[in-house]
Amino acid sequence: LKEPYVLTKADVVERYLPSLLTASSEPVTCFAPSNIALCKYWGKREKELNLPVNSSLSISLGHLGTQTTLSLAEVDQVWLNGERLTDDTPFARKVIAFIDLFRRDQAVTLKVDTRNNIPTAAGLASSASGFAALSLAINQFFALDLSDDVLSAFARMGSGSASRSLFQGFVEWEMGQQEDGMDSFARPLVARWDTLRIGLVKVATGEKKVDSRSGMTRTLETASLYQAWPAQAARDISRLHSAISDKDFQLLGETAEHNALSMHATMIASWPPLVYWQPDSLAAMQKVWQLREQGIPIYFTMDAGPNLKLLFEAEYEADVLTAFGEIEVVSPFSAVP
Ligand code: ADP
Ligand code: DP6
Ligand code: CO
Repeated sequence: LKEPYVLTKADVVERYLPSLLTASSEPVTCFAPSNIALCKYWGKREKELNLPVNSSLSISLGHLGTQTTLSLAEVDQVWLNGERLTDDTPFARKVIAFIDLFRRDQAVTLKVDTRNNIPTAAGLASSASGFAALSLAINQFFALDLSDDVLSAFARMGSGSASRSLFQGFVEWEMGQQEDGMDSFARPLVARWDTLRIGLVKVATGEKKVDSRSGMTRTLETASLYQAWPAQAARDISRLHSAISDKDFQLLGETAEHNALSMHATMIASWPPLVYWQPDSLAAMQKVWQLREQGIPIYFTMDAGPNLKLLFEAEYEADVLTAFGEIEVVSPFSAVP
């Protein structure tokens, strides 16, 4: 029996490419911010194209993220943070496989020089800024002139969260329903919230043992709790829209924290158990809850890693720094013109 035919990434990308590529003779450099989801993307309905089970909503991290330069070279080579990676590392292979979708069999060999100013593979969304910056650079290097919607859908095929990292500010990724996934892309929301701050509590910045992709698969395959997730995500997206349009910080923070902990509950309910927390992660959570008891409106969110991202407003920055020490604080809207 023949397997049902599944569209590949290459099938989808091909439809948007010119028949002959022109490569830039000059290097091309693009930056994309990392992003933190307030309603998480957790679970794929289709793995080849990275199509999500639920829509998600994030906030981008301004100047924190990835800068990627593409230039012509004698042989393909991938450099991360100033060091050349060997060709058989999963990192280099994923980058080259993504470039292959665009150059296909044309004889263009490239140097990819990518720099993350956030830790790589530590739950601070390096895959998001990494594949967004690479998508922007490919678009420019090969003069593809793709629309934002198409580019976001392509970035999504590199890493789901990358669909949201093409933009600053609040960004929503609609799950879509088409088989080819071309209605599954992100768009920025028009809203701004200049007093919003994000504090990064770096508990550990080493590479996580289980990457987001395998963590998601394990959760879907083994956690019966996951059944409750899609409905919660839908509810949380609509709450976040209200919170953003009413500038209701309490609703924003409660929704984000509850969403993150619910996602982590599905991870913990997987087998083998998937616990991204470390003792210091829990200690930081307890500090957040203590501050709230003292009347300071502060909430947290967490991704597939041990680090916390604090959510608070500018007027409480001094209190937060007193409680957490010299953590990095991002003003996400200072990057939005
Ligand atoms: P994170 O929480 O950092 O997003 P993931 O497990 O989702 O962790 O993804 C880490 C992977 O993302 C890396 O192993 C690599 O494949 C990819 N990645 C990270 N940074 C970049 C980059 N600058 N360019 C291309 N890919 C990247
Ligand atoms: C917990 O986008 O890293 O950070 O699509 O498999 O590359 P792949 O996974 P990735 O997953 C991110 C998961 C998350 C939640 C989120 O960013 O929405
Ligand atoms: Co990631």
